[in-house]
Amino acid sequence: MSAMETKILSLRSYLMQRLMISLYLLWLVSTVVGYFATINYANQPYDLVLLQRAYAIADDLKLGSGNEQLDVIPDLPDGSDPGMPDKVVYTVTDSEGRKLAGNGNTLRPLSYRRDRTGPLFSNGEREGQKTRMVSLVYKSNGGVLQLHVAETTQQRQALIRGILSNIVIPQLLLTLIALAVVWYGLKQGLRPLERLRNEVLNRKRDDLSQLDGSQAPAEVRPLIDAVNDLLERLKQVMQAQQRFVADAAHQLRTPFAGLKTQSELALRTNDPEQKQHALEHILTSTQHGIRLVNQLLALARNEPGGQGTESFTTLSLNHLAQECTVNWVQMALEKNIDLGYESTSATVEIQGDAASLTEMLNNLIDNAIRYTPEGGHITVGVGTTADGAELYVEDNGPGIAPEHRERVFERFYRILGSGQSGSDLGLAIVAEVAKRHGAEIRLDAGSGGIGTRIGVCFCASNEMRRRPS
Ligand SMILES: Nc1ncnc2c1ncn2[C@@H]1O[C@H](COP(=O)(O)OP(=O)(O)OP(=O)(O)O)[C@@H](O)[C@H]1O
Ligand SMILES: [Mg+2]
Repeated sequence: MSAMETKILSLRSYLMQRLMISLYLLWLVSTVVGYFATINYANQPYDLVLLQRAYAIADDLKLGSGNEQLDVIPDLPDGSDPGMPDKVVYTVTDSEGRKLAGNGNTLRPLSYRRDRTGPLFSNGEREGQKTRMVSLVYKSNGGVLQLHVAETTQQRQALIRGILSNIVIPQLLLTLIALAVVWYGLKQGLRPLERLRNEVLNRKRDDLSQLDGSQAPAEVRPLIDAVNDLLERLKQVMQAQQRFVADAAHQLRTPFAGLKTQSELALRTNDPEQKQHALEHILTSTQHGIRLVNQLLALARNEPGGQGTESFTTLSLNHLAQECTVNWVQMALEKNIDLGYESTSATVEIQGDAASLTEMLNNLIDNAIRYTPEGGHITVGVGTTADGAELYVEDNGPGIAPEHRERVFERFYRILGSGQSGSDLGLAIVAEVAKRHGAEIRLDAGSGGIGTRIGVCFCASNEMRRRPS
């Protein structure tokens, strides 16, 4: 469980992480770009000063005049003045780079080896210190003289450091402020969600009332609506479940109450005839109780959440219907009812659970025999329709009035006045089995508008596989 929890990152942490990485990268890029821009701008004025100093030295040495005075020593800063910490050195060389004069031993820049003229700036190192150098070329007496003036870069470095700290530190501060603002904004923005979470967490176990999404952000509304929809459905299912348990308990009470009364009677009386009578009642009540429990179990087996479609096999509807019918023949005979089987094709195969389908058919035939008066006719049949296979049971009994046709499939729904007692679950079981098989139930009057015809259609549109031959 803890492994699962670690995987679930909160929305706020996720957004903050993303934002922090982006802001950090942004800050890094702006610092690097700022650094190079700073170097460039800091160099420009210093380079100009260096160039003027080089011109001044050239003037002092009279370079390019044809009358050079290379033994003159120009006055140059040596870095000892605290206000001017950079040391300046110069070198005069011939075109081959041989030193002719100067107090330094500066190397001529590479570009000058390719006959370049004009001032040329280059970076170098001297006695472990970074230097910036400008080189000039003078033509004199047919030869070429090169002047290289180099200075250390302490002042430049100080300026760069100053500018950089003025860029980087405020930027860093801005980044931190932006992060803080976003963090606070997110905290505020996600507050309605947190409130919702607490509301759900603190709910009582059986509280299925709707969530209040009025203050939630628009993005979360669809989720809340979906949850509310689910809660509503759950509430209905729970209410139905509660009703069902109450009804079932109520139904069970009747046979139990009968058992109690009759056993008390049997114990009290010494009359063998009365005892016999009480025992017969006890048997009837027990049979009712058993029937009810069996019907409840059948219902539970076929409900969604019970067995799924794993137990489905390819089976022959004809076979199944025939077998069931045979089992009820004796019962029909006792009531002088003509129970027959008919089929329009030899084999109609479907995918289904044989036990459930038998349960379904038993309930249909049981109803037909129970509610059809003596001397009636019942037909169990299998046929093929335009879009699938149909299993039906038709009788010529009293029929089911149109106003009851929808409701007879409800659990514990009973049409008064039939003169029969049952557990009122038979057709509910039929409905559940049909639903589990993706089949459709059609309840009509029998042929000639007399009696009842209940057809269960395993239609192609229900994706049931069938193979008539
Ligand atoms: N073939 C039929 N002819 C006339 N009425 C029927 C027929 N089948 C069902 N009914 C009516 O529909 C009602 C519901 O039937 P259902 O099978 O669900 O319950 P039941 O037969 O009373 O009880 P159970 O079958 O669970 O013992 C019955 O009470 C009956 O009035
Ligand atoms: Mg029944």
